[in-house]
Amino acid sequence: MTQTPQPSGTPSTPDALPPVAVVGAGSMGAGIAQVAAQAGHDVHLVDVRPGAAAEAVERLTSTLRKLAGKGKITADAAEEAIGHFVVGPAADGDLTALPPMGLVIEAAVERLDVKQDIFRTLGSHQPAETLLASNTSSLDIAAIAEGVDEPGRVIGLHFFNPPPLMKLVEVVRGGNSSPQALDRATALVRSWGKTPVRCTSTPGFIVNRVARPFYGEAQRMAQRGSASPADLDLALTRYAGFAMGPFRLTDLIGQDVNYAVGESVWEQTDRDPRYEPTAYQKDLVDAGTLGRKSGRGVYAYGEDGAPQDAEGDEFAARALATGPVESNVVARTLSMLVNEAVDLVHRGEATREDVDTAMRLGTNYPKGPFEWLDELGAATVLENLRVMDAAYPGGRYRPSEALVALVEGAVEDGEAHTQKQNARGDDA
Ligand SMILES: NC(=O)c1ccc[n+]([C@@H]2O[C@H](COP(=O)([O-])OP(=O)(O)OC[C@H]3O[C@@H](n4cnc5c(N)ncnc54)[C@H](O)[C@@H]3O)[C@@H](O)[C@H]2O)c1
Repeated sequence: MTQTPQPSGTPSTPDALPPVAVVGAGSMGAGIAQVAAQAGHDVHLVDVRPGAAAEAVERLTSTLRKLAGKGKITADAAEEAIGHFVVGPAADGDLTALPPMGLVIEAAVERLDVKQDIFRTLGSHQPAETLLASNTSSLDIAAIAEGVDEPGRVIGLHFFNPPPLMKLVEVVRGGNSSPQALDRATALVRSWGKTPVRCTSTPGFIVNRVARPFYGEAQRMAQRGSASPADLDLALTRYAGFAMGPFRLTDLIGQDVNYAVGESVWEQTDRDPRYEPTAYQKDLVDAGTLGRKSGRGVYAYGEDGAPQDAEGDEFAARALATGPVESNVVARTLSMLVNEAVDLVHRGEATREDVDTAMRLGTNYPKGPFEWLDELGAATVLENLRVMDAAYPGGRYRPSEALVALVEGAVEDGEAHTQKQNARGDDA
C-alpha cells in the first residue's frame, strides 16, 4: 500500500478531541456535559431513566441559547456546543451500546453498588485506554473500581456544583489509579478551563474534609446558646472575610445535604470526634427545616428567598472575633481549618498549594488554610487548639502531629542552637 503524499505546506489537521460520555444526566452530569461540549468534545449522554438523556440535551440547548442571548457566549459557540451532544444507542442506559470513548465520567446516584455496576460494564466494553472517572463526592475510588480489570484507569473527577461555573476539579487517586491516568485527566480538565488539584481518595477529599470545622465550630457555639447564628455569621464574614457565614451557607446548601456530607466523613473516619456532626444540625434536619428550599432552616425565608432576621449585631460579632478562644468563633474556626489542612498534607493526601487552591475555589474562602497558618503562626494555632482541647476533651481539638512538630521543631532548633553555642563557649 502506498501512502498518499501530503502536499507540502498543507497545515496538518489537528487530531479530533476524543469523545466523552457522561453517565447520569442529572444536575451534575448535565453540567459536566455542557463543560465538555463547550470545550469541543462530542459528548454522549446516558441515563438509566428512559428519555432523561434527551431531556437533558433539550435543557442544555435552551441554557446555551440563553447564554448566547445574554451575550455571555457567541451564538456560533452555542450552536457548536449544542452540535456536540449525542443521544445515541446507549442514551437510555445500555452501556454495552456505548461506542469507544476517550473518557467516561460517571455522575449517577451516590450508591456504591450502582457505581460498581456501571464501572464493571464500562471496564469490559470500553477499550483499555479509555479513562473511567467517577464524580462521586464521598465513595472510595478503589471500591468503585473493584470489578474493573484494569483499575489503573479508574480515577475520581470531582466537579463542584454548578460545573459550568465552578473552576475547581479534584482529581482523585484511588488505591490503584495509575499516574498516567491521573496525568491525562489533569491535562484534560485543565484544557476545559478548569483548575485541577490532586488528592487521594481520602474521605471528603480535600474540600469536603477540610471545610467541616467551618460549620461545626459555629454550630457548637449556637448549640450551647453562647451566641446567635446571626452574630456568628457576622463575626465570620466581617472578621475572617468569609463570603457567607456557616448558617446562611448551610441553609443555602440544604441542612440535609450538608449534614449527610459531614456524617459520611465521620463514618468513613471511624467516627473520629473531629468530624462528629452536631445535634444542632441534626435537629434542623429532623424537623424538616432544611434551609431556603423548605422556606425555613436556621433562618426563615421570605418570598424573595432572602433570609429574615439574619442581620447580626456588630457589637456582639466583634466580641465573637476578639475574645478568649472558647468564645471566639473566628479563632476556633481558623485554628481548626488550619489543623485539618496541616494534617491532610502531613498524611500525604495533597500538597499545601493544592489545599489552598481547593479551599479558595471550591468553597470561595478568602484565603487558603496555609495562608492563615502563615498569618496566625503555628504557635498561636497550636495554643488555641490546646486551650479548646482542655476545655472540651475527647479528641475533637487534638492538634495534628505535624502542627506540633512545626512548633516544637522550632523549639528543638532553638535548643539545638543554644546547645551549639554552649558547646562553642566550652571550647573557647
Ligand atoms: N449535587 C452536587 O452538588 C454534587 C457535587 C459533586 C458531586 N456530586 C455527585 O455527582 C453524582 C450525581 O449527583 P447529582 O446531584 O447530579 O444527582 P441527580 O440525582 O441530579 O442525578 C443522578 C442521575 O443519575 C441517573 N442514574 C441513576 N442510576 C443510573 C445508572 N445506573 N446509570 C445511569 N444513570 C443513572 C438518575 O436517573 C439521575 O438522572 C453523585 O455521585 C453525587 O454525589 C454531586
